[in-house]
Amino acid sequence: MSDAASRSRLLENPPVRSIRWVGDEFGCPEIIDQTQLPDQLVRLRIESAEQMWQAIRSLRIRGAPAIGIAAAMGLVAELRSRHDAPLEHYLYHLQATIDYLATARPTAVNLFWALDRMRAVARSRSWDSSTALHRALHAEALALRDEDAALCHRIAQHGAELLPKRGGVLTHCNTGGLATAELGTALGVIVAAWCRGHELHVYVDETRPLLQGARLTTWELAQWGTPHTLLCDNAAGQLMREGKVQAVIVGADRIAANGDTANKIGTYSLAVLARHHAIPFYVAAPYSTFDLQLRSGREIPIEQRPATEVTEPRGVRFAPAGTEAYNPAFDVTPAELITAIVTDRGVIRPVTAEAIARTLGEAGHR
Ligand code: MRU
Repeated sequence: MSDAASRSRLLENPPVRSIRWVGDEFGCPEIIDQTQLPDQLVRLRIESAEQMWQAIRSLRIRGAPAIGIAAAMGLVAELRSRHDAPLEHYLYHLQATIDYLATARPTAVNLFWALDRMRAVARSRSWDSSTALHRALHAEALALRDEDAALCHRIAQHGAELLPKRGGVLTHCNTGGLATAELGTALGVIVAAWCRGHELHVYVDETRPLLQGARLTTWELAQWGTPHTLLCDNAAGQLMREGKVQAVIVGADRIAANGDTANKIGTYSLAVLARHHAIPFYVAAPYSTFDLQLRSGREIPIEQRPATEVTEPRGVRFAPAGTEAYNPAFDVTPAELITAIVTDRGVIRPVTAEAIARTLGEAGHR
């Protein structure tokens, strides 16, 4: 797939979607099990909040926007068996399940944002039956998915022009259709630019320890047909030194009011390298990833994951048994290292608290 017409048709109907709803309001979500990729494309039906909690915690579904949609859909799946229970009983379980799903992972703010949206539906009026409320919650979960898809397309539109007409673009982790409803954030910008005829070569960071770049981003780029090369995370400096990278673009898990950005561990090192080499460093994220209640990145909670993900990734032990490992899932890149943040509302450049407040306006949700 290389000519411009077929590329732009592809953009209208992106090839990868992380999650879908199966059946009516009493149905359940189905996710692509991302831990099985790229070897197998396995779809998993999720029937309860506990299954969804486990799927989010174990990264069967991952990426900030996808986690939010997944939690909302998991909530609806959990509550379907109670749709004919007394309203008080339904509301009690709604609140308890929201509180439970909110503990699945701590950093991506989209999780809490999506659950807040679900809670707001329950509070929006006085419901006369559990079934009526259940139908409204189902509709809201689907709306969250549709909205995220639309946000991604807007981000791609705003961001594509920032990328070079020809050259190398480096990205980290996975920010495509697997991490969102469809298309993606940073990866969406990249494929949109490529679909519009930019002659891009994508350099994909492996993204240790869980290899979201090596396993997922390469798999997605192959679906698009976009030229790409995989590198070990620690080869990025040398690649830049060789002049092969004209832009870096990454996603975000949470952006504080001043623009400090939490994203997959290794993002901060890339931003430092990019600054040293005078390469623009872009972040792409929807408004739902901003947390304007937090003044700076220092306040963003960083998830710590098990040492075994480092010492024995995917069950293969590299380090002597019992070796301690440092394994934060995310790091924080200070705003001053970010050239611009591409959002669905437009491009924020330079990245300052004032520019963020101006661009997000009423959309700043928390
Ligand atoms: O631990 P993960 O794989 O959920 O981390 C994902 C990331 O860091 C992504 O870059 C971020 O969520 C943006 S996804 C559009």
